[in-house]
Amino acid sequence: MAEQKPREKWGTRIGIIMAVAGSAVGLGNFLRFPVQATQNGGGAFMIPYFISFLLLGIPLMWIEWAIGRYGGLFGHGTAPFIFDKLWKNRALKYLGVIGIFGPLVIFIYYIYIESWLLGYAFFSVTGKLLAFTTPQAMKGFLLAYQGLGPGSNLWTAYLFFLITFAVNSWILYRGIKGGIEWLCKWAMPLLFGFALIIAARVLSLGAPNPLVPDWNIINGLGFLWNPDFSVLTNSKVWLAAAGQIFFTLSVGIGCILTYASYLSHGDDVVLSGLSAGATNEFAEVILGGSIVIPAAFAFLGPIGAAEAAQSGAFNLGFVTMPLIFGRIPLGELFALLWFALLFLAGITSSVSLAEPAVAFVRDEFKLDRKKAVVLFSIAAFLLCQPAIFFLGHGVVDELDFWGGTFALVLFATIETILFVWIFGMDKAWEEMHRGAELNIPRFYRFIMKYITPAFLLFILGFWFIQQGWPTLLMKSVAAENLPYILATRVGLILLFVAIAILVRIAYYRRKPE
Ligand code: PFF
Repeated sequence: MAEQKPREKWGTRIGIIMAVAGSAVGLGNFLRFPVQATQNGGGAFMIPYFISFLLLGIPLMWIEWAIGRYGGLFGHGTAPFIFDKLWKNRALKYLGVIGIFGPLVIFIYYIYIESWLLGYAFFSVTGKLLAFTTPQAMKGFLLAYQGLGPGSNLWTAYLFFLITFAVNSWILYRGIKGGIEWLCKWAMPLLFGFALIIAARVLSLGAPNPLVPDWNIINGLGFLWNPDFSVLTNSKVWLAAAGQIFFTLSVGIGCILTYASYLSHGDDVVLSGLSAGATNEFAEVILGGSIVIPAAFAFLGPIGAAEAAQSGAFNLGFVTMPLIFGRIPLGELFALLWFALLFLAGITSSVSLAEPAVAFVRDEFKLDRKKAVVLFSIAAFLLCQPAIFFLGHGVVDELDFWGGTFALVLFATIETILFVWIFGMDKAWEEMHRGAELNIPRFYRFIMKYITPAFLLFILGFWFIQQGWPTLLMKSVAAENLPYILATRVGLILLFVAIAILVRIAYYRRKPE
């Protein structure tokens, strides 16, 4: 079938690989991964992690690239309309709404956290950040910055949020080739450069405290990587590994689907998808694994490093790392590189989270990109406000749960079953191989047809029993936060319904054509 209207396209092959890798390489690589690995058996975590990569991550990457490119041929860039081209079913397009809703929900909080990084990069330069030398003082600064603790002043954070939001909007406004591709083509090499410099600095720390020579970088690497194989029988570890794979690769949510819809008919998806995935794994395992945990070990020792990892990814990134930089020569410079690295990793991910909503308005309401971005920006800006002002009441965690965990696994399951079972494995295989510069090994037919969906259904079921049900019943929500969490849930339902109504309007409006 012919194209209905000219759509934007990526400029170069390396451009889209960089853009997808840009979406994948994010805060998840440098903060979430090391914490997950430390808490789930160290080196042994890499077994479920790589199995999940091979059985879930890579197949989903190929599936999403192929479905997205297929939808783009019909002028569609978002799941409700692409799903409809794969299978005519009245209800299916409403399941596809998750592919716009999920990324938008993640975007709402991700961009706010991204803006903290800009703020912290700024305070690294002014020297204000490294003036704090104790964990209490550094933590106090973070809380005050977030508007939560004594002496708090949320307006500084708000200012950096406005700047970050404006930069994101501007990039989206400039379009696929002139905006997103342009950004990723310079931000990705820069980000890798910064990460290599920081990793090299950390790996050359030796034993920074001469009084305790055991607190050295080799033992720090051992602390992260020494395997504890006993964890392999624990299903929680497998869930954590699969969850990390989804989140870090940005698969199973709709962003890559939209990016791939800007490909042309015969563009390769197999090698490109694999390259983007491999780039992400290098950034995650090699670079992400060489920075925060080994550094924390060298300065804080085994107990301190375990405590730091236990206190979560944000504490590690915003409290422990600046404290460490404060204790090495040229600390301001390294702190700046660290926060700049994370900011670049963040922005190349946040634009990918915004693009499905932009593409939806643009493709289905036939607006030009500039108008679509203005409309998106107004709506997204309003939606961000609760995350900023009610952070202390658990709103961000709630958004992360529904967008970053629930929607992700659910959407991945739907798109996999749809593509390999309903659209059909033979057609799916042919679709993936059109223009392919690499043949997928044949045993992947079996994996994609049986193993990937079974693994996904298992995760969905298991995870629902373990986390979903208690969360649904708000078991661990503190009483004073209940109204905020309830309001967030009502808001999310309304958002979902609003998108579904827009999908319906767009669908029936264009149907007679
Ligand atoms: N992959 C990003 C990270 O590792 O930080 C986060 C992310 C971006 C998740 C885009 C999902 C997504 F669609």
